[in-house]
Formats: sequence, structure tokens, C-alpha cells
Amino acid sequence: MIDPIPRSASTEQKRRTYAVLDTMLRAMLEDEPDWIAAMATVACELHHAFGYYDWTGFYRAVSPTLLVVGPYQGTHGCLRIPFDRGVCGAAATTRATQRVPDVHAFPGHIACSSSTQSETVVPLVTPDDRVLAVLDVDSNDPDAFDAVDQAGLERICAWLSDTYASNAPTIRAE
Ligand code: SME
Repeated sequence: MIDPIPRSASTEQKRRTYAVLDTMLRAMLEDEPDWIAAMATVACELHHAFGYYDWTGFYRAVSPTLLVVGPYQGTHGCLRIPFDRGVCGAAATTRATQRVPDVHAFPGHIACSSSTQSETVVPLVTPDDRVLAVLDVDSNDPDAFDAVDQAGLERICAWLSDTYASNAPTIRAE
């Protein structure tokens, strides 16, 4: 685990922290084939590395239209999110990262916690184009995430989905 950096950290310090985490996670998970263990480790390490992350975790695609909560850190997370709801659903549907500076301005945002002000959700898409899960990172600060956060999270998620594409369960058709 590395010491948490504050939201006021410089761009360079944030870049460095994401790079260190990326290297650390690859090393920690090098011999770990289990997808749940990988998600749990990523959620834990990310959550404790950034002081402005207040909820950090995964929602897994269990069908072509439904996300179910996976490993996370933080207070109680909603259990199920349909693809057509919330920021997580938008990330799963569009297969594009959603960086939301003000969750109250996002139509259909699901408030699992009333303290959340901003969030970033990154989809995990396999090389053969399956959505495995989304990584959801929430902050109690408004506009907490910038392009450096987005790039850092996307890099980790791209590695995760490439590495675990064949180990994660294939979703059933509805
Ligand atoms: N923020 C999400 C819901 C999940 S929780 O915040 C943990 C959304 O609107 O998709």
C-alpha cells in the first residue's frame, strides 16, 4: 500500500502515483489468475492511494443489461445497476469513460451515498469486445477527477480487461 496523495497534489505527483500503482499491481497480480482477487486488489490499492477517493469498486456485467456490485472499498454500494441507469450504466452502454464533475447534474445518477459529489467510471472491455465490468470511483469533493486521473484509471482497466478476459465468466445471453 502506498501513502495517500491529496486532491491538491501536483499533476506530476498524480502521474507518478498512477505509474507506481500500475507497476505494483502488475507485480502483485503476476501469478494470480482469479478475476475476483484481481478486482479486490485493484480496488484496495487505488482507494488507499488517493485521499479524494471515497468509494472505489467494480460492478460486474452479469448479463447484457445488468451490472452487479463486485469488490469495493467504502460505504455500502448499491447492489444492482441496469445498463440504462446511472453513470455506471452509461459507461457500460457507451463503452466510454464517464467523468462527471457534478453528479447532481447527471440525468439518472444513482445516489448510493448522499455524500458523493463527483465520479469517474471506466468500462472494462475485452479485446473481443465484451464488457466485463466497470470501475467506479466516487469522491465527496466536487470535480475531483481530472484528465490525469482518467488516463491513470484507463491504463489500469485496459490492462485488467486484457489480462483477465479469458478468466472472467462469460455473461449469459438473456
Ligand atoms: N454512482 C453510480 C452508482 C454506484 S455508487 O455510487 C457506488 C452511478 O450513478 O452509476
